[in-house]
Amino acid sequence: MNSEHPSPDFILRPTRLEDIEPYTLFLSNPEVTIWLDDFFQKPITRVQVEGLFHQDSWCRWAIECENKFVGLTALTDPDLSRGIARFFIVIGETSLWGQNLGTNILREVLKLGFNSMGLRKINSDYLEPNIASEKIHEQNGFKIEGTLRKDCWRQGKWVNRKLLSLLREEYNAS
Ligand SMILES: CC(C)(COP(=O)(O)OP(=O)(O)OC[C@H]1O[C@@H](n2cnc3c(N)ncnc32)[C@H](O)[C@@H]1OP(=O)(O)O)[C@@H](O)C(=O)NCCC(=O)NCCS
Repeated sequence: MNSEHPSPDFILRPTRLEDIEPYTLFLSNPEVTIWLDDFFQKPITRVQVEGLFHQDSWCRWAIECENKFVGLTALTDPDLSRGIARFFIVIGETSLWGQNLGTNILREVLKLGFNSMGLRKINSDYLEPNIASEKIHEQNGFKIEGTLRKDCWRQGKWVNRKLLSLLREEYNAS
């Protein structure tokens, strides 16, 4: 954990239409999008972001620090018959990176997923080497399930995708 800075306070709240503009701006920063899925590697228009915001098939929260929208987190791809969803996070405000915010947000989403929504398993994944993403999962007890080898083209080469999950019993035991 980075102890030079106290971790920023945050709230998770429902998304609002006024979040679309700053989120579009965040997604125009390659530093933010480089380890996201292929869809985010091309310029994303405001209309496309609006489309993402209007999808009702996933549970998402705006991340707010000091009354400012700084990113999105979500439990996507829910399969409620199996009690499973997939974690997703983008902190678009890069000045907030490395202060334990991502780790704490993931902790809060796990609490919501397991305790409030009754999920049994939360899946996630990251492209190698997304070290920050690797760390936030590690710090929250996720286990590696496997590797999709040479899954995506990034920075001039094929990179692996790590698949992870956390089970409710592991979460409760931590
Ligand atoms: C991934 C993300 C959510 C992490 O958020 P964060 O607030 O920076 O995370 P934290 O500060 O809790 O933890 C990050 C850890 O990785 C470390 N880290 C970050 N980049 C690193 C790098 N390039 N090399 C080594 N360590 C690195 C930090 O020092 C920190 O380690 P520590 O806890 O031991 O100090 C954020 O970087 C982000 O939104 N990135 C863009 C979108 C993205 O990649 N989302 C994930 C898709 S799977």
